[in-house]
Amino acid sequence: MNDSRIARKLDASTGAGTRLDPWFDRYADRALGMKQSETRSLFAVANRPEVVSLAGGMPNIEGLPLDFLADMTAKLIRERGPQVLQYGGGQGEEELREMIVDVMRPEGIRAHPDDITITTGSQQALDIITQIFINPGDVIVAEAPSYVGALGVFRAYQANVVHVPLDKDGLIPEALEETLAKLAREGREVKFLYTVPNFHNPAGVSMSAERRPQIVEICERYHVLILEDNPYGMLGFDDQTMTPLQRLNPDGVIYLGSFSKTFAPGYRVGWALANHAVTQRLILANENAVLSPTKMGQLSIAEYLRSYDWMAQIKQYRSMYRERRDAMSAALDRHLPRASWNVPEGGFYTWVKVPDGIDAKAMLPRATTNLVAYVSGTAFYADGQGSDHMRLSFCYPTPERIEEGVRRLATVIENELETIEMFGHPTRYPNTGVETPKSNLR
Ligand SMILES: Cc1ncc(COP(=O)(O)O)c(C=O)c1O
Repeated sequence: MNDSRIARKLDASTGAGTRLDPWFDRYADRALGMKQSETRSLFAVANRPEVVSLAGGMPNIEGLPLDFLADMTAKLIRERGPQVLQYGGGQGEEELREMIVDVMRPEGIRAHPDDITITTGSQQALDIITQIFINPGDVIVAEAPSYVGALGVFRAYQANVVHVPLDKDGLIPEALEETLAKLAREGREVKFLYTVPNFHNPAGVSMSAERRPQIVEICERYHVLILEDNPYGMLGFDDQTMTPLQRLNPDGVIYLGSFSKTFAPGYRVGWALANHAVTQRLILANENAVLSPTKMGQLSIAEYLRSYDWMAQIKQYRSMYRERRDAMSAALDRHLPRASWNVPEGGFYTWVKVPDGIDAKAMLPRATTNLVAYVSGTAFYADGQGSDHMRLSFCYPTPERIEEGVRRLATVIENELETIEMFGHPTRYPNTGVETPKSNLR
């Protein structure tokens, strides 16, 4: 019996979990490793209208042309209903894959539709990629911090996540090299590097142009596959795009894209671009998981791309999010002079280092009582660090709500600091040396 099974038997023998769940001792080990993400546990509270939520990563889709989409959908069903409402292939619809080739072109990717697999959002791409590469205990190297949803998938497949720090220019090549060398010395094979090079979730930073070829070269040398997750790349506030790692080594990178942030997440359509061999396995895994990805979602998006000026829509998103980013930066300047943060040049998130002594995770209940929500930095690490940071999203609330939310947050932090002054520092998780990305504009 392996350790986790023994632990589970012990749990069961003490009665833990058995009264509410009669099947507790029947679950696979991987199910016991799953836990509710810190962002999800916040959802119920954060969605109350009186709370200003700076927590979620929900895009603000109010600007979408709803009348156009309603007419488009009606026409799609009327004219192509039997096709749209039928099962499709496991790789996804060819007409959409052909269009995704065009969607990736502004970032400089030259792809073939046969190398694209459509998934139920890029979240499902993360799932099937992890499924086909990871055995329990395998090592995944990931940025510190990393997207919470990816960490959840990695945990579910019982991967061993080894973090490598990033700074204001993204993943640090020297730290990556050092980590890979150490793992090699220990005989631990790395299955892949997980990175979000553009407008990082949660850190808000982008990998610099100089570092991109360095990261690709290091991974090539250590024979480490790169998983490049890029849902925000088209949301640069100055219309800037950055060279995808995929372009630097198409065979050594699996690239993930999504329509969730640049169009609408409700369609649940994302994709993976990989070489031929990996794609064949992804299609099999996709078939096992969903038979075929949503036909309705795929063909609606294909129709949207064909008949609407989607680039104009993205430009509108950029200026709306830029305005909210400005509101967030101004509010932080005004209300939180004792914190430090980066000023993101695209995407949805600001990563804030809280004043010394504050534990962002411990403070969260007091923040929600004061009607403001954020995500504690601890959600974005596999190893418990991060209590000295919080992620603030500026994507969903209006600029006025952002200002009000940060003002409330400042009051909570001031109260917390007063309490600490009076009663001393609470116990906190050790910080294992990850630097806050320094402000890049101020
Ligand atoms: C970095 C990153 N990857 C993947 C996803 C999943 O997006 P979706 O499944 O909607 O495409 C998100 C969503 O927030 C994200 O921030």
